[in-house]
Amino acid sequence: MKLDNKIALVTGASRGIGKAIAKILCENGAFVYLAARDAEKLSVTAKEINPSGTKTKVIPTNITSNTSVGELFSKIKAEEKSLDIVVNAAGIAPAVAAEDLTYQDWKNVLNTNLNSVFSICQSALEGMKAKGGGKIINIASILGSMASPGLTAYCTSKSGVIMLSKQLAVEWAHYNVNVNAIAPGYISTDMTKSLRNDNTLNQKLLARAPLCRWGKPEDVAKVALFLASDDSDYVTGAVIPVDGGMSASLM
Ligand code: NAI
Repeated sequence: MKLDNKIALVTGASRGIGKAIAKILCENGAFVYLAARDAEKLSVTAKEINPSGTKTKVIPTNITSNTSVGELFSKIKAEEKSLDIVVNAAGIAPAVAAEDLTYQDWKNVLNTNLNSVFSICQSALEGMKAKGGGKIINIASILGSMASPGLTAYCTSKSGVIMLSKQLAVEWAHYNVNVNAIAPGYISTDMTKSLRNDNTLNQKLLARAPLCRWGKPEDVAKVALFLASDDSDYVTGAVIPVDGGMSASLM
């Protein structure tokens, strides 16, 4: 299989896009560490993805805590494993008007969506260097390059993820570490449930997507598989939209 003998870490793996990516990596032969905050939810997901439990391991992690991220990498190291593939999929998207956004809320979004990506990429580098290379896939958003009312902190964080991915791609190319970002459009997950439940907004969003449907987590996962595999060996610093054509179209 494409990812036989590869070791992967997926953050935000308990549900949504992270879960779909963890599943596809596992189905293609990788051993996958599943990280998110809730141990119980992660265990349920792990059972679903790999009932035998031989291809997954759950490591409850709060990615906003340096201590927790440190423990995550210590646990992986203690198992004498180092990562070939890292997928940063955890994220939050609270909607608050910029003028009402508290500094604490701003920091919380930036810490979760951007600062954690930096610290996880940096923590993974040592092992990838020792292995002679690796693949890092950061889940950004089309809202990293387009503004959206009420999502100032989110859009800013995702814009940062896009530039961070390009920057690391340039700096780490000589280690054979490929760093790419995926920019999903509107994907049907818990994060976007309230948008789908609002009929007017839902119709508006569908009208904006040339492919005229919500994306599925699996749509994103298939692109992540490409970026995790040897098929993308000459791809680095790229930002791949998975948005049904939304970012290509003004109306
Ligand atoms: P989701 O809300 O369904 O899942 C988010 C995951 O992140 C959960 O597993 C949650 O436990 C984890 N997480 C959140 N904060 C965490 C923390 N502090 N520590 C550890 N884990 C934490 O969201 P969804 O839709 O699956 O999104 C995944 C990624 O894709 C996010 O980065 C999101 O910004 C991005 N994205 C999603 C889009 C969508 O339409 N659903 C569109 C564009 C980007």
